Amino acid sequence: MTPTIQAIGIANGGGDCPGLNAVIRGAVRGAILGHGWRVVGILDGFDGLIWPERTTPLTVESIAGILPRGGTILGTRSRGDPFHHPTDAGSKVTHDDFQICRQTMDKLQVDALIVIGGDGTQTIARDLGRRGIPVVGVPKTIDNDLSATEVTFGFDTALHVATDSIDRLHTTAESHGRVMVIEVMGRDAGWIALHSGIAGGADVILIPEIPFTIETICERLRERAATGRKFSIVVVAEGVKLPPNDPFGKPFPKPRPGQVGILVGEAIHESLKQDVRTTVLGHIQRGGSPSPFDRILATRFGVEAVELVARGEFGRMVCLRAGEIESVPLDDAVGEVRLVDPKGSMVRTARAVGITFGDVA
Ligand code: F6P
Repeated sequence: MTPTIQAIGIANGGGDCPGLNAVIRGAVRGAILGHGWRVVGILDGFDGLIWPERTTPLTVESIAGILPRGGTILGTRSRGDPFHHPTDAGSKVTHDDFQICRQTMDKLQVDALIVIGGDGTQTIARDLGRRGIPVVGVPKTIDNDLSATEVTFGFDTALHVATDSIDRLHTTAESHGRVMVIEVMGRDAGWIALHSGIAGGADVILIPEIPFTIETICERLRERAATGRKFSIVVVAEGVKLPPNDPFGKPFPKPRPGQVGILVGEAIHESLKQDVRTTVLGHIQRGGSPSPFDRILATRFGVEAVELVARGEFGRMVCLRAGEIESVPLDDAVGEVRLVDPKGSMVRTARAVGITFGDVA
């Protein structure tokens, strides 16, 4: 039976992402203006489900002006998990706080939850749903690697930041005749690197889906130099797997976050003996105001999540398919990363315009 809804909670988890506030706004306005519900913001990931004082009422007035704002007004936690909640700060001993979450929802008189987040957060949403909490998911990640949706909000903004950065590196690279390496985000999939590399006219794109060698990259850069082009742009996704050894047979160290681009840059320098500079773009890609595309997609997701709640379609996640907002069961939505197809049309397009992926021969 569809529960009667009088109030909903909105939570977000995992890394922040441009467009989170637009989802929150879409959901709050949809819930209040469309259905007359009360809305409660769950603060700091799922912490607000454990400590009721970490919640806040969300009203049309209280969310005014958040549409163009980056980050999230709710705050977030990268690794907050109510099913494995550390008993003390920093402790490895964890506790299953599901019953506390249930009690908090009762105390707040919240009938259903909208949970915004990436794969890890949606797995938590699925498990909350399996244990009886009416829940609807909204997908989020700048990496654009969730299999259940064609696009996630945040990706377009990150792509703009990365492309603009490549454009800027181009002019200085050309002036100095340097190789510029730029590391962009993409832990498991190379979407940001692939799209920004094509949009920015890169010479080399390295993605986790295509194994590469430093020799192949350098070969390409030598060829360019031989035609008078002394500068080159190399885009590296942070999740690439380095070859076992550098060009001199020395094993590559296991890179720490933000180090892989630097290691690639050093290896190119050692091999070519040419001036190389490396830029690690990092969280700049996640900050700042969402693009119009992301604001619109996020608003559509927020509004549709409310409609799923209204129709009692719980245990589902909104998604984008062929330009339309649809939904999929959370059971099917989690655990599958959408990777770049090395033989797909985007990679073929890149190759056709002369971009190399440094492929292992
Ligand atoms: O999942 C998105 C992402 O941007 C990844 O590309 C990156 O590895 C990760 O977040 C970094 O997150 P944080 O530094 O916040 O843990």
